[in-house]
Amino acid sequence: MTLRPYHPDDAPALPALFRDSVRRVNARDYSPEQIAVWASDDIDLGRWAGRFDGRFAVVAEESGRPVGFAELEPDGHIDRVYVSADYQRRGAGRELLGAILAEARRVGIARLFVEAGITARPFFEAQGFSILERQVASCRGTELVNYLMARSVVQPHAAADTDYVAYCASGLALNRPDPLRICPTRGSSFVE
Ligand SMILES: CC(C)(COP(=O)(O)OP(=O)(O)OC[C@H]1O[C@@H](n2cnc3c(N)ncnc32)[C@H](O)[C@@H]1OP(=O)(O)O)[C@@H](O)C(=O)NCCC(=O)NCCS
Repeated sequence: MTLRPYHPDDAPALPALFRDSVRRVNARDYSPEQIAVWASDDIDLGRWAGRFDGRFAVVAEESGRPVGFAELEPDGHIDRVYVSADYQRRGAGRELLGAILAEARRVGIARLFVEAGITARPFFEAQGFSILERQVASCRGTELVNYLMARSVVQPHAAADTDYVAYCASGLALNRPDPLRICPTRGSSFVE
């Protein structure tokens, strides 16, 4: 498996990977109705691809085919992270997150945060993220549980420190003035 930057030519393959991953992996933890809205057939593909613009986006590929992708916004928010349903637990997620961490260090982002779904929560915990808050996001009128999670970039696994978590929860530590007011309404990967 190799990592490379996202390219607009990836636009046709990544939505298919995304839908398949949600339908086969996240279906473990969400109802059929929730999965149907999250991985809807009606996703606006132009808008979905347009969200990569201006973001650091990295693709994992095997034998020339994408098996996962991840993206980082300039404020430290990790938006979409998806690994192919046929490529789970083979280290692709860890590699993608490693690329995000390296980019965050390169551009001077101090902290990363993510709205992790139920399925991805143990993955992010294993990568040093701690839960700040359980949230209920709305996706086209359907509610989905996720977890606002964060970790420090500079100190590996420092987010497990309870003082740090309390500091983040106070709304002071993330890269935005009031992250807990902004993040719960963003919806993250649940929004097309
Ligand atoms: C979450 C996701 C990106 C992880 O990608 P992955 O390539 O399967 O993860 P990795 O193989 O790199 O796992 C790294 C470590 O994370 C932890 N981990 C990953 N998945 C886990 C799970 N389901 N349960 C417990 N721990 C898990 C383990 O410690 C694992 O190391 P190990 O396999 O040596 O034990 C992937 O499962 C996925 O695409 N899920 C569906 C889409 C999704 O939920 N995306 C996030 C949206 S918020």
